[in-house]
Amino acid sequence: MIVGVPTEVKLDEYRVGLRPVGAEMLVQRGHSVLVQSGAGEGSGFPNEMYEAAGAKIVDSAEELWQKAEMIVKVKEPQATEVRQIREDQTVFTYFHFAADKDLTVGCLESKCIAAAYETLTDRHGRLPLLTPMSEIAGKLSVQEGAKYLERPQGGRGVLLGGVPGVEPGHVLILGGGVVGTCAATVAAGMGADVVILEVNIDRMRELGEFMPPNVRTIYSDPQSIREHLSWADLVVGAVLIPGAKAPHLISRADLVHMKPGAVIVDVAIDQGGCVETARVTTHSDPIYTVDGVVHYCVGNMPGSVARTSTQALTNATLPWVLKLAEHGPDALAKKDPHFAAAINTNRGVLTNQPVAQAHNLDFEPLAV
Ligand SMILES: NC(=O)c1ccc[n+]([C@@H]2O[C@H](COP(=O)([O-])OP(=O)(O)OC[C@H]3O[C@@H](n4cnc5c(N)ncnc54)[C@H](O)[C@@H]3O)[C@@H](O)[C@H]2O)c1
Repeated sequence: MIVGVPTEVKLDEYRVGLRPVGAEMLVQRGHSVLVQSGAGEGSGFPNEMYEAAGAKIVDSAEELWQKAEMIVKVKEPQATEVRQIREDQTVFTYFHFAADKDLTVGCLESKCIAAAYETLTDRHGRLPLLTPMSEIAGKLSVQEGAKYLERPQGGRGVLLGGVPGVEPGHVLILGGGVVGTCAATVAAGMGADVVILEVNIDRMRELGEFMPPNVRTIYSDPQSIREHLSWADLVVGAVLIPGAKAPHLISRADLVHMKPGAVIVDVAIDQGGCVETARVTTHSDPIYTVDGVVHYCVGNMPGSVARTSTQALTNATLPWVLKLAEHGPDALAKKDPHFAAAINTNRGVLTNQPVAQAHNLDFEPLAV
């Protein structure tokens, strides 16, 4: 199999889909690896490391997309990339098709096999290629929130950990899943006073067993949200209703009850955000203020810590890249239903039902 690793072209994206060690393992198994020059640079993996691993560096994206039988990348293909996808080529990356009809139609027309990280499952029904990015975004949410709480950044001028004689900052986390748990761990470690609002009582029991004493869980309803909004210095939006748009748990009218200079980090912005006033921002221009409340709504938070994110992502994806290279997409989908769940489009056929519903397109289950 010829495996191609392009340089990401999305704005502010520094991750790469394969590390040099991944290239080495593919080459050892008899495959060829083409890496676009500079693809690993943003994550601290220069061309020389890929060459030492046995990969071939190619200068242009065109050459790479033309020669590779399988593409391994990070972000959903951008318009310039969609045009280069070839019939029968396997593209293994995040797609988030439900959010982008043009991308869906483009991939169908290309007749490629689009294997999406975000729908690959494990035996517990979880999404193992999404989890590492949620862990990173959760930890980062408090790091970013702490930064924008600083007065020169437009925040309230609050140190989350406090000092002796001064109370710590108050952190409110909406949703106690992967993002929320990681956010709570960091905030609690800094010494903040943390409340997680959840609707899943079993999850709250679990959190109670391992969270430190400065983290409390409270049932999430409109009243508890309102009460805690006026208490919070930092709010982290981390709710998810699988397959659906995030619910707006904080309305514009709620903002007046918040402290001036408080910060909202809406991590759920990739699902539309759980705050009515949230709109997607970029690492280059990450915040804006509404009614005195600072909003941070970056859609690809892990991209800013590209080295950690590339390592975490490729730890999860590499075993699948190796299996795909060994068996090819058809045999692997037959053998393994968890990989079959990743295939969203197969040679012009849309094989993911929620995506078909989202865009009112025809759906056909994957024939395995
Ligand atoms: N912006 C980014 O860069 C980025 C990166 C990674 C993940 N995300 C997003 O972060 C969000 C959270 O992801 P996750 O992996 O933690 O999901 P998760 O499924 O692990 O957790 C979501 C939690 O929200 C809870 N919940 C649902 N409705 C609620 C409500 N009304 N009030 C309180 N809690 C409620 C659920 O019970 C669940 O525990 C997702 O939208 C995900 O796509 C964004």
